Amino acid sequence: MMNICVIGAGHVGLITAACFADLGHKVWCVDNDAKRIANLKKGIMPFYEPGLEQLTASGVQKKHLIYTTSIKEAVKKSEVVFIAVGTPMKENGEADLVAVENVVISIGEAINEYKLIVEKSTVPVETGTWIRKTISEIVHRRDPKIKFDVASNPEFLREGTAIADFLKPDRIVVGVESKRAEQILRQLYEPFKAPMVVTNIHSSEIIKHASNSFLSLKISFINMIADLCEKKDADIIKVAEGMGLDPRIGPRFFNAGIGFGGFCFPKDLAAFIHIGDKAGVNFALLREVERINEARKYQFIRMIKDVLWNLTDKKLGVFGLSFKANTDDMRYSPAADVIELLKSEGAHVTAYDPEAMELAKTMITGIKYAKSPYDVVKGADALLILTEWDQFAELDYSRIAKLLKKPVVFDGRNLLDPVVMKKQGFQYYSIGRAPVNGV
Ligand code: UGA
Repeated sequence: MMNICVIGAGHVGLITAACFADLGHKVWCVDNDAKRIANLKKGIMPFYEPGLEQLTASGVQKKHLIYTTSIKEAVKKSEVVFIAVGTPMKENGEADLVAVENVVISIGEAINEYKLIVEKSTVPVETGTWIRKTISEIVHRRDPKIKFDVASNPEFLREGTAIADFLKPDRIVVGVESKRAEQILRQLYEPFKAPMVVTNIHSSEIIKHASNSFLSLKISFINMIADLCEKKDADIIKVAEGMGLDPRIGPRFFNAGIGFGGFCFPKDLAAFIHIGDKAGVNFALLREVERINEARKYQFIRMIKDVLWNLTDKKLGVFGLSFKANTDDMRYSPAADVIELLKSEGAHVTAYDPEAMELAKTMITGIKYAKSPYDVVKGADALLILTEWDQFAELDYSRIAKLLKKPVVFDGRNLLDPVVMKKQGFQYYSIGRAPVNGV
């Protein structure tokens, strides 16, 4: 078992720490946000992630998981140091690496003996080189005999299924510069029994950005085809199924809708485009992915207006606020963008989300937040589905039809079955599927 330090108690860091602790390692989970650490010590999670509360509680109880604000203490006690701090988007699309640099300086100041420093945050290619240079300057001024390695080990977990994704990965990617670093990471990941790609740090860094960009591309591609399906009386669900059964294409990440959001795809895509520009490589393909994604929200508003005409003073009920189901994360949520557009059209919005309401209240003002999905639809001119929570599919839609002023549904996530909706008397509009009118 190893002594591990994970710096950054965000989505990637906290899950990494909790999962390694669960596997029996001794893990120090560090964050400079004292309130976050104090809350974690009380068992209060900083965000909603299924299973995380139980997993961290068990780690703490077994004394495998220790929360601290002290990088120094955590680094000193660990052999492997993971960097998992945020790399937000700057205005020009570039990744902001200030948090990474600050952490790296603190690591350099704390190193007392050999450490393997692993970047787990999504970072631009060459960040590893900067990390090595920065630590090297600090450490070698103090004691040139102290050795350390830098490695890259990108994380591919998704919010909402993060623990399963972490513990049962499709692949492990490590970028290393020494045999010693490779051996440590092989030993650490051996129990996962997953295929391992071992490469240099630059390739590993590119794998992460290229993977997220490719998945975004896949989503924009299917959204583009959905537009054609709408115009030609075809069904995007069947088209995606027919394409996805080809193993070279694959069925996953082929759900058409109001576009991708969250703190990873939009930011990583922008950062990757920036990297391409800086390197003199034309990433116009990815610019198009961004453009298609941005247009989704406007097209959805157009679809609504084609049915309801003016939105001024129309009452609209909204199911879903988070950027996808099973998370309370509101960052770059397409639902939030759609609501802002509805507000700018003068519509009166009432919304409900199973987990994201508290956060949403701090971000979206000028709308009503309902206590239940049924309260959302009372007297509304139409219902909009913006996030694909399972529980929205399980509601009593005959009751919803009665509560709405008119039984009109715009399903931005293709969550419901058009035939069933028609049978229940709805005017049902979705993405890339011919409209089904029950009236
Ligand atoms: C994404 C990647 O899937 C992870 O592999 C990666 O580790 C993570 O980013 C990261 O870089 O940290 P995540 O942002 O949690 O994970 O969410 P996804 O499940 O990938 O969904 C992203 C967005 O795409 C959501 O808004 C979702 O609704 C949308 N989406 C996804 C679609 O519109 N259609 C699909 O078929 C799939």
